[in-house]
Amino acid sequence: MTIPFDQWPEWPQHSDRTRQKIEEVFQSNRWAISGYWTGEESMERKFAKAFADFNGVPYCVPTTSGSTALMLALEALGIGEGDEVIVPSLTWIATATAVLNVNALPVFVDVEEDTYCIDPQLIKSAITDKTKAIIPVHLFGSMANMDEISEIAQEHNLFVIEDCAQSHGSVWNGQRAGTIGDIGAFSCQQGKVLTAGEGGIIVTKNPRFFELIQQLRADSRVYCEDSSELMHGDMQLVKKGDIQGSNYCLSEFQSAILLDQLQELDDKNAIREKNAMFLNDALSKIDGIKVMKRPPQVSRQTYYGYVFRFDPVKFGGLNADQFCEILREKLNMGTFYLHPPYLPVHKNPLFCPWTKNRYLKSVRKTEAYWRGLHYPVSERASEQSIVIHHAILLAEPSHLSLLIDAVAELARKFCVTH
Ligand SMILES: Cc1ncc(COP(=O)(O)O)c(C=O)c1O
Repeated sequence: MTIPFDQWPEWPQHSDRTRQKIEEVFQSNRWAISGYWTGEESMERKFAKAFADFNGVPYCVPTTSGSTALMLALEALGIGEGDEVIVPSLTWIATATAVLNVNALPVFVDVEEDTYCIDPQLIKSAITDKTKAIIPVHLFGSMANMDEISEIAQEHNLFVIEDCAQSHGSVWNGQRAGTIGDIGAFSCQQGKVLTAGEGGIIVTKNPRFFELIQQLRADSRVYCEDSSELMHGDMQLVKKGDIQGSNYCLSEFQSAILLDQLQELDDKNAIREKNAMFLNDALSKIDGIKVMKRPPQVSRQTYYGYVFRFDPVKFGGLNADQFCEILREKLNMGTFYLHPPYLPVHKNPLFCPWTKNRYLKSVRKTEAYWRGLHYPVSERASEQSIVIHHAILLAEPSHLSLLIDAVAELARKFCVTH
């Protein structure tokens, strides 16, 4: 049985409440934080407060994207020319390009086989006297081992920026993803569990970083201290100038959508988590399939993508692209919803720093340098695993059973010849 595409949950999702929130922006006539005071707090500031509360931290700054969130975090920490930053070799390219965008060198470290997050055991040997920070990425449906990473960072006096583009709401040892390191950076691009189409968010507990990040994202301006003294039509942003900024401000429309979407985040994450457990249970019983490990420190896991691994020997030598194609056809799912993991950054054709003139030569390097790197676990991941978009985890269990049946049928087919 195949299932019509429109019977799978789609992403993103909105309601009349979302439309109402956007309508409020039209009614206020303030479309940007650099617009004028209309007697009410900006949507951007309301969202920042709500997301800070959600994460249990004092400070939050929305930005234009997850990429700019990472870049501004690095800038606020003073990272730039001559510095090195450790990043996982398996991630979306933006983790590494953010480092290049401040003219520092991304130094790759391979990931763990069973979480696809940076392997803490391998971090130490990548540290040099130029290393300034580690960017662990909480990838797909796993969290990086923040206990070990924090310990290493402390020992070597390094900053930690958590890349939470894929992990809004996960909890490690009672702390939300993004609040364990010095700074957390989130993406709100269309595929993410909290989305406004595009957007980014930074959270921190450090008042100085907060002060700098605000300026970095609004041409060195900050919100004025006391808005009650403003007249309708006054600018709410005031000049500061401690650090050179640029414009990375989220619009009021995007902030309004995020305010709306945040209300449902924990509830939807809980449904995804329950269904991921259901899939884990069923798929792990199929010969040749392995599911990802969940460390005991994780009490809530957000799923940007649900991942399972397969043994190609038990599946007739199929690679991940072929495996996905069979499942997509059977389940009537598009490539947005079901695909192999990213190619590791050093092998990803989209990662080509040597083409960029504004990067320093010392970090731009050459095609031979980047393509010559080798990280075996990351390289295997893109060949032997499948990623299912989190929207599918919002489906009814009866629909999810079709997915399980499709994998089991494939396993049976190859089992005969194995
Ligand atoms: C792990 C990771 N880091 C960073 C980003 C960058 O976010 P954005 O696309 O909002 O710039 C993404 C987005 O896909 C991501 O998945």
